[in-house]
Amino acid sequence: MSGRIPREFIDDLLARVDIVDVVDTRVPLKKRGREHIACCPFHEEKTPSFTVSQTKQFYHCFGCGAHGSAIGFLMEHEGLGFVEAVRELAQTVGLELPQGSADSPSNEQVPALLEVLTRADRWFRDQLRAHPRAAEAQDYLKGRGLTGQTAARFGIGFAPEGWDNLLRALDAEPELLLGAGLVIKKDSGGFYDRFRHRVLFPIHDYRGRVVAFGGRVLGEGEPKYLNSPETAVFHKGRELYGLYLARDAIRASGQVLIVEGYMDVVALSQHGVENVVATLGTATTRYHLERIFRFAPEVVFCFDGDRAGREAAVRALETALPLLSEGRQAGFLFLPEGEDPDSLVRREGGDAFRARLANSVPLPEFLFDHLRQQADLSRMDGRARYAELARPLIGQVPDGILKRMMTERLGELTRLGDDALRGLVAAAPRQASGSDRVRRPRPLQGDSPVRKAVALLVQQPDLAASVADQPELPEAAIAGLDLLRGLLKLLQEAPKQNTGQVLEHYRGDPSEKHLEKLATWEHAQQASDNPQGELRDALLAVRIDALQRQEAAARELGDARAAEICAALQQEISRLKQQRLSGGG
Ligand code: UTP
Ligand code: MN
Repeated sequence: MSGRIPREFIDDLLARVDIVDVVDTRVPLKKRGREHIACCPFHEEKTPSFTVSQTKQFYHCFGCGAHGSAIGFLMEHEGLGFVEAVRELAQTVGLELPQGSADSPSNEQVPALLEVLTRADRWFRDQLRAHPRAAEAQDYLKGRGLTGQTAARFGIGFAPEGWDNLLRALDAEPELLLGAGLVIKKDSGGFYDRFRHRVLFPIHDYRGRVVAFGGRVLGEGEPKYLNSPETAVFHKGRELYGLYLARDAIRASGQVLIVEGYMDVVALSQHGVENVVATLGTATTRYHLERIFRFAPEVVFCFDGDRAGREAAVRALETALPLLSEGRQAGFLFLPEGEDPDSLVRREGGDAFRARLANSVPLPEFLFDHLRQQADLSRMDGRARYAELARPLIGQVPDGILKRMMTERLGELTRLGDDALRGLVAAAPRQASGSDRVRRPRPLQGDSPVRKAVALLVQQPDLAASVADQPELPEAAIAGLDLLRGLLKLLQEAPKQNTGQVLEHYRGDPSEKHLEKLATWEHAQQASDNPQGELRDALLAVRIDALQRQEAAARELGDARAAEICAALQQEISRLKQQRLSGGG
């Protein structure tokens, strides 16, 4: 989907932006001492525990643990992908993404398209209030149970009857309106309004900018819904209707409900079920889910209880499986036949709907039930078939507890033994997902000197210069040693980095999580008057540990080098004593 953005570009970008500005325009900050603070945007709180450090170019919430660089903040807060977040930041400092690194070519027309869409949006909303024939649209909406408040919240508008109302009202270049999807070009070369005699639902992007519209016919007529075409600013496989308005409710509830229709979102929201979005006449894409999972760990898909609904649910299941990494959940809510969320919530009310939501079918259960319809578990050959059908599905779940539990359940259902089962599921074709491909290093634990050194370096990267004179770290099987060595090398080759930049170097790396943790590890954060001495001390301790291990291994093998290593070890130990005596730590 996207080419790689060169590291140097990320470094340069993060050197130019200031995370304090980036956060402050979205979450107003107060200055307290050296830190900038606010109530955390990622969890509910009354007293601020969200801090942004200008020197580290890093944010951290002591309440919920959220943390990261300016890029990470945009990804978390706006639900953006990495490339999108980088592009967004780059724009603010006038940098262009390097050629070939973006997932879509930058389009110079975009600002003009957004501007004309904003004007169209305002005009449509004005027509719903003030057009001479607005009563028809207002009555239609009232007839569907919408309050004026809800219509205003969703920015619902009205496109009156006629071929060129918008064309004339906006007085913009027809080609620009065409690019925005607002008009259609005739074969003869002229233009006419796309949306005529319809109620309009504006579609907002993650920032609340109008990028497209969906227009519903008033009453009967074909097509029932007319949507904007794909444009430079609108891709229906990416946008979700209602996401911008639902963000806070989604974060607060930790859950997203995905429905099919505009009216479903609007009606549910009016009845207090606000954590809801709709796909735009398409199936849910992987991209949709990736975006949603940045806001909440649980997704519930809502479908009709009929056959088409169950088939759609199977497709959603297949899309969701590879995304169910640790802690994420998906479920299905099947509605009674002939109902959609709009009709149901109007009939039953918000509480009853929420009760249904709480009883949604967990994805694993749906998967096993679904397969049972295709294979008879009471027969041996049926169980074999069942296992064969389950294999590629469970195989797509990222390695972790959920996958293990699903594999176990498959074992119970098919009466396959553990070993047979493990082979079966492990052999399934895998979706290459970042966390699957890479070997996970052993976690850095406790208060080890490696951990301390890494923490000091990631929190105060310029300390690396102060140990440039130290000999290289010996090889040894110590958890985190390779990470420490790599980090020292990185910082000595490219000095003058802040914490945010260092962490961006490790994005997608197996060590990313450890590093992030250490960036906020308070033990090493406590102000010390001599961080340089502490780092030196920690590195010496690592060297001693490594040499001791080498020595032990050499002795065991009867290797002649044992004596040599022992001598080196003695030397390091006396260096450590010396340094401690001279007050170096
Ligand atoms: P439905 O046909 O289920 O309609 O379309 P609905 O949402 O219940 O509509 P109301 O309640 O009669 O107003 C579900 C979604 O499918 C897309 C729209 O996004 C719609 O909200 N759709 C449907 C279209 O894009 N075009 C159509 O002609 C119909
Ligand atoms: Mn409906």
